[in-house]
Amino acid sequence: MTRVPVLEDLGDVAGKRVLVRTDFNVPMEGPDDARRITDDFRIRAALPTIEWLVTRGASVVCASHLGRPKGAPEQKYSMAPVRERLAELAPGVDLVENLRFDPREEGNTPEFVARLIDGVDMYVNDAFGAAHRAHASIVGPPRSLPSAAGRLLQREVEVLGNLRDTPKRPFVAVLGGAKVSDKMGVIEALLQVVDSLVIGGGMCFTFLAARGYPVGDSICELDQVATCRRLLDADKAIHLPDDIVGLDGDGNFATFGQRLPSGAKGLDIGPGSAAAFSDVIMEARTVLWNGPMGMFEDERFAAGTRTVAQAMADTRAFTVVGGGDSVAALAQFGLDDEVDHVSTGGGASLELLELGDLPGLAALRGAPNVR
Ligand code: 3PG
Repeated sequence: MTRVPVLEDLGDVAGKRVLVRTDFNVPMEGPDDARRITDDFRIRAALPTIEWLVTRGASVVCASHLGRPKGAPEQKYSMAPVRERLAELAPGVDLVENLRFDPREEGNTPEFVARLIDGVDMYVNDAFGAAHRAHASIVGPPRSLPSAAGRLLQREVEVLGNLRDTPKRPFVAVLGGAKVSDKMGVIEALLQVVDSLVIGGGMCFTFLAARGYPVGDSICELDQVATCRRLLDADKAIHLPDDIVGLDGDGNFATFGQRLPSGAKGLDIGPGSAAAFSDVIMEARTVLWNGPMGMFEDERFAAGTRTVAQAMADTRAFTVVGGGDSVAALAQFGLDDEVDHVSTGGGASLELLELGDLPGLAALRGAPNVR
């Protein structure tokens, strides 16, 4: 994977005003006028870059999106709670209002880029989670300003790049989450590089249907069944659950094999599958995990995800976890410090693994200090 310019490539930053594009799209709760951050991981993750710049005499202004407002201010998506937390963690650092309050951010217009970089000398992209978006704040500033990847972005590119290009083998990818259609591109790309693929979560039912099993009322994307069948027929190990837990037709908790009776709904992998998946993880030397094994927010359906999370913590393999839900699951089980790399990007990490590059990385490589 091609190298991106890093902070050292900016040269002397003393006295310079530096715009840092961060991904402060943090989870929040509470009423619209009193939102509260429930996890400040993404804010803390930007601190090494901010501190690097500040200790060398730069003045830093951060810019980020928050949620998906429709190009106009919405109180619910105000940056105020983030600004407050940032002021505690990095006093003196500015944060502009939610970039997506202006439709020109997603529209990537030259006028919005000009507004963003007005009075700014240098640009740093540390927003790995948004580096797959060709938005104004991601691809615009490097066209004219000396630019670099921040420490977080640099580390993500290194870890995920190595995973894609030179993984220690066996390399196992554990994928879950609700929809197989969201991840079909990455599944196909991963199949080129992994030794085996473990599939749980809602997406396993489309694969089970492709094997010819009835899946009851479980989530199943019929238009993806043929593609799943083709992948299952390919010459790679794809592990599917052989037991499932969920609700029977009367709404009672039940355990099933691979065949779900009509009216039944699968909501987690079963204990046998969790143990089998755990064995695969324990025997691997590299493991990528993206997507929970079931509806872990409901304690009745958390066991599969918990077993996989514990195996990620226990294995001697190099472990990488990406995707908001899997990261939240790790945190819920108190295991977030037990893996080697927690990626701040969900969609971005999958797109980087699939395509080997992102619009935000390509933009940095075209910056005037690099050309
Ligand atoms: C994320 O949470 O994955 C990033 O902040 C990107 O957000 P987006 O999918 O709304 O662009």
